[in-house]
Parts: sequence; C-alpha cells; structure tokens
Amino acid sequence: MKIISVVGARPNFMKIAPFILVINKNNLSAKQNDLKIQHILVHTGQHYDDRMSKAFFTALNIPDADINLGIGSGSHAEQVGNTMIAFEKVLLKEKPDWVIVLGDVNATLACSVTAKKLHIKVCHIEAGLRSGDERMPEEINRLVTDRLSDLLLTPDVLSGENLKKEGVPDSKISFVGNIMIDTLEANRSKASALKIKNIIKENIIDYQNNNDLEFFNSGTPIYALMTMHRPSNVDQKEIIEPIIRFLVDEVSEDMPIIWPIHPRTQNQLKLFGLWDEIILNKKLLLLNPLGYHEMLKLNMKAKIMLTDSGGLQEESTVLGTPCLTLRWNTERPITLRKNGGASVLVGNNIKRIREEYRNTLTLNRSPERPKLWDGKTAERVLKSIIKASK
Ligand code: UD1
Repeated sequence: MKIISVVGARPNFMKIAPFILVINKNNLSAKQNDLKIQHILVHTGQHYDDRMSKAFFTALNIPDADINLGIGSGSHAEQVGNTMIAFEKVLLKEKPDWVIVLGDVNATLACSVTAKKLHIKVCHIEAGLRSGDERMPEEINRLVTDRLSDLLLTPDVLSGENLKKEGVPDSKISFVGNIMIDTLEANRSKASALKIKNIIKENIIDYQNNNDLEFFNSGTPIYALMTMHRPSNVDQKEIIEPIIRFLVDEVSEDMPIIWPIHPRTQNQLKLFGLWDEIILNKKLLLLNPLGYHEMLKLNMKAKIMLTDSGGLQEESTVLGTPCLTLRWNTERPITLRKNGGASVLVGNNIKRIREEYRNTLTLNRSPERPKLWDGKTAERVLKSIIKASK
C-alpha cells in the first residue's frame, strides 16, 4: 500500500510524528505476506521559517519531507491554488492508494480536493470538528475536507456526532482519539527536564530589555502564558490594542506574562505601532516561536493560559492548565470546562476577559483526559486505514 501524508503548517507536525512512527513499526514487524506500507511525506511549505517548521521535525524526529512544494505565504487562494497545482503533479507521478490529511490548515483543503479529483482515497485525521463559524478559514477547510473524505477519523465523541448530523454514513467514520496527545505523552519527560529560565533566555526576542529573569529561578514561578495568532484577533487594531492594554495594565501587574509570538502577530503589532511599547515592558516577555518541548514545559507550569490556539486548548485540558480561550466559539468544545476540559471562551471583549481571568486565577491545575486521548491514537489510525483498504 502506498500512502502520501501531507503537512503544511506548524500544527500538522506534532500530529504526523506518531503516525510515521507506527508506519515504521508496522513495516519492521511485517512478515513476508503482511502489508508493507510505502510512505511519502509531502510538506506544502506553507510554514517555512526554521522556528515554525524545521525545529519541529528535529525535536520530534520526523524524517525530512520527501517532497517540499515550497508554497510559502500568500492569500488563501494563492496558497490553496498553488498547492493544488503542485500536489497534482506529485499525485500523477506517485499514484498513491491513500492521501492522508490532518487538521484544518490550507494544505488539508488543497490536498484533499486534488486527490479526490484524481479518484484517490482521502483519509482525514481530526475529522468532524466544527466551530460553526464560516468566517474562520479553518472551518471552510474542515467542511470541504470532511465532505470529500473517504475515511473520517475523529478525535472525540462530539466530532463523531457532528458528522452523523451532517449525514456522513457510519461506515466512513472511525473514532480514534486525539493523535496530538500521542506526541504529548511521548515527550512529557523530555519537556519536564527543561528549565524555564533557560527557555526564556534562549528564545527571548529582546533580552536587553528584560533582565529580571531571576524570578524564574525560584521553585514555582507564577506566570501567565499567552499566544495569539488568529486573524480575527490580530488583524484589526481596534481588537488587538485593548487586549494588549489588558495584558500590560492588568495581567502584568499580577505576574509576568510569557508570550511566544507568532510571525503574523509580530508583523501586525509593528504595523499598528504597538510593538515598541510592549517590547519595553519588563513583565511582558516576548519570545520567538518556541519548539515543541519548550512550549510543553511552559504549559506544564503556567498559572494560567491565554490563547486562541486550538491545539493549546487541547494540551491545556490534558495538563490541567486553567485556560482562557480568546475566541467566541471553538471547534473543540470537549476542551471547555463545562464539558470537563480546562478552558472557557472569552472572545475579545475585555470586560468578559477580565471577569473570567479573575475567576480563573482561583482555580488549581486539574488534568482531564477525554475518551481515547490515551497516547495510542496513531495505532488506531493505521488500523482504520488498513481496514478501510480491504
Ligand atoms: C496557519 C493556519 C492556522 C494555524 C496556524 C498555526 C491556515 C488557514 N491557517 O495560520 O490554522 O493555527 O497556521 O501557526 O492554514 N509567516 C512567517 N513564517 C512562516 C510562516 C508564516 O513569517 O514560516 C508569516 C507570514 O507573514 C504569513 C503569516 O505569517 O503571511 C501568516 O502565515 P499563514 O501560513 O498564512 O497563516 P497562519 O496565521 O500561520
């Protein structure tokens, strides 16, 4: 069997690592008549900076992509269109039995459409998530990919229900769990061993202006961990500026904030003239995008997480980090406190963020494990693909 797996952007990399491992394991243990899998890894090149891409391949022992389409940045139409044109050539040459796509980035959409048009079977890992918000580019990617996929592998019970409501037949759906948690479990101890002060020192954007890192030498430093990169939060000054004000005027009065900053957000803050002020605030520690283990360590110890990232909502649930989700909706309701998770939706309204921030500070770390987030999802993924191939 020949499989092409596609990755394009940062959140894909931690999801592909365990899948490649189980394929290798399968091939090593396969006897003569068993099914060997020929695997080709395609990177669309949507994320290309070392810190956004290569660092994850290295840290998670992902082999170099066999093919990099070199798509780079651009509008959605440019990224999707260029990926389709380049990926079609790969498919015509390689003729795989399956194309495996992950998550909800532009590569997921572009490559599932391209494969289906060539009558190649598509498997979607992380199928069935729905935010209900079609202004979110990822929601379009999810809807189209799930509509076309031949095998839909769901991460939680709620995503399976979404697919059934949309009329997807049971025979196409398999509940496998959350593959990203395989990576978390495999890397916990390595992350634990890291020192917070070193993570900051090695990644801080402007170390000169932030020289009070001694605080992080203490046994249990109390800090907030922040990430924000969604266009809906960072692309308009009227939205991002009040959030920055809240961080600077209120949160940083309580505790230091560690903020690994996405290139999109960095660009926008510079564009809006907000960069110089935040870089000078000694309690706001701006870091370059972090490696996998570094981010995991910071999440393990944070007093509170403020984020608009879907992956961090999930990791915070398993680690128990009390989390404020800076969005009005989520495609991952399983991570919400009301459903047993660690996070609460606060959108970008400061009054609401403030209220929930104060509530959340009273909470203790409380790890939860949704069904099948057990570190063994990749094995179930491969079993489902093999079963669907018979
Ligand atoms: C993409 C995903 C999003 C995911 C996020 C994680 C889509 C539609 N969006 O959003 O779901 O949560 O990745 O990071 O696929 N840039 C760099 N270096 C890079 C990559 C990007 O500087 O290696 C800058 C460029 O200015 C680029 C901007 O970041 O225009 C946005 O990158 P892009 O890949 O278009 O979208 P993300 O916001 O990263």
